Amino acid sequence: MPTPRAPLSLGLFMPNCSYAYSISTYKPEVDDWTYASNLKIAQAAERAGFDFLFPVAKWKGYGGKTNYLGTSLETMTWASALLANTQRIQVFSTVHVPIFHPLVAAKMGATLDHISNGRWGLNVVSGWSEREFGQMHIDVIPHAERYARTSDYIEIIKALWTGEPGTINHHSQWYQITDGWVMPQPTRRPHPPIANAGVSDDAKEMAARWCDWAFISLPSAAATAEVTSDIKARARRHGREIKCAGYPFVLWRDTEREVADERRRIIEHCDREAVENWARGLAPHSGSFDNFSVEMFTLGGGALPIFGTREQVAEQIDQLYRAGLDGMLMVFLSYYDDTLRFEQEIMPLLRQLGTVG
Ligand SMILES: Cc1cc2nc3c(=O)[nH]c(=O)nc-3n(C[C@H](O)[C@H](O)[C@H](O)COP(=O)(O)O)c2cc1C
Repeated sequence: MPTPRAPLSLGLFMPNCSYAYSISTYKPEVDDWTYASNLKIAQAAERAGFDFLFPVAKWKGYGGKTNYLGTSLETMTWASALLANTQRIQVFSTVHVPIFHPLVAAKMGATLDHISNGRWGLNVVSGWSEREFGQMHIDVIPHAERYARTSDYIEIIKALWTGEPGTINHHSQWYQITDGWVMPQPTRRPHPPIANAGVSDDAKEMAARWCDWAFISLPSAAATAEVTSDIKARARRHGREIKCAGYPFVLWRDTEREVADERRRIIEHCDREAVENWARGLAPHSGSFDNFSVEMFTLGGGALPIFGTREQVAEQIDQLYRAGLDGMLMVFLSYYDDTLRFEQEIMPLLRQLGTVG
């Protein structure tokens, strides 16, 4: 008998950065980036039965009226506090390969694993933004090299977490580690989950070889099956398994008319300057977001719109699951309220459909 597929893992793409919900000035409320808001949302998500929380790691904003993502909480320290104040939910941190030395990331990660009794996970990103890295005089290297370096990075972290401490050696173009030592090692076996966010061929191949999760952008719902089956097939060729998580903007109202109005307001208030800075930085160096329109970038910075009535939204989420997504990191317009509403209005429908446990 084949093993039944695990239910969809539900996560929030947390608002640890300003304007996390969209590159738009539409939302009149106070921004959610503060720690107090993040903690309130995290605890609500835990009560609602969500599985994980996921941040954005940013070092500078993208200009315009919003200065998109310009105010942000660093994600290792952010995770530490959220983990100390929750009991069950998993929390990821995101590290940029050129910024955190792998031994430092392994050490911090092992500490977070101990603080949380094995509820922490690591998202490794290669880094793409000259705007962010330029202030530190760190170069954004060519795409293929970026991912070659990220492979080495993850190989080192895994060795430090699972090998005999004091015996880890690695000598490559990117790193020199001699008798590497990380103690304590994480409690979680074989090691805390490692994700990569990216979707170019270089990213897919690297993630398939080294990662437990691929966090991917999706140009359309229709593209999901192709992207997820490609990544999973690549992993199988390396004798491994990988899970895929997508990043949708989930918005629902009682009527389609109300949803369309809400969408129009977000788009009408698009911060074009920030969108252009975001797209200019991301697209030319990436295979992931190359064909995204201004509207697609405006909604959650490139999130997949899952808009409709509650039934339509539940149906679309279920279809993404059937198309191979194992997890979702959702962007919400009003994070706290929508987390409560999701539990009451969408979760029961997903249970009926058999999408979540
Ligand atoms: C779900 C998701 C989360 C991401 N999180 C971050 C992040 O926190 N910080 C960052 O600099 N880039 C982040 N990225 C960008 C990716 O790491 C990647 O560089 C980008 O998607 C371009 O893809 P590519 O590197 O495969 O060309 C994220 C991308 C996705 C799809």
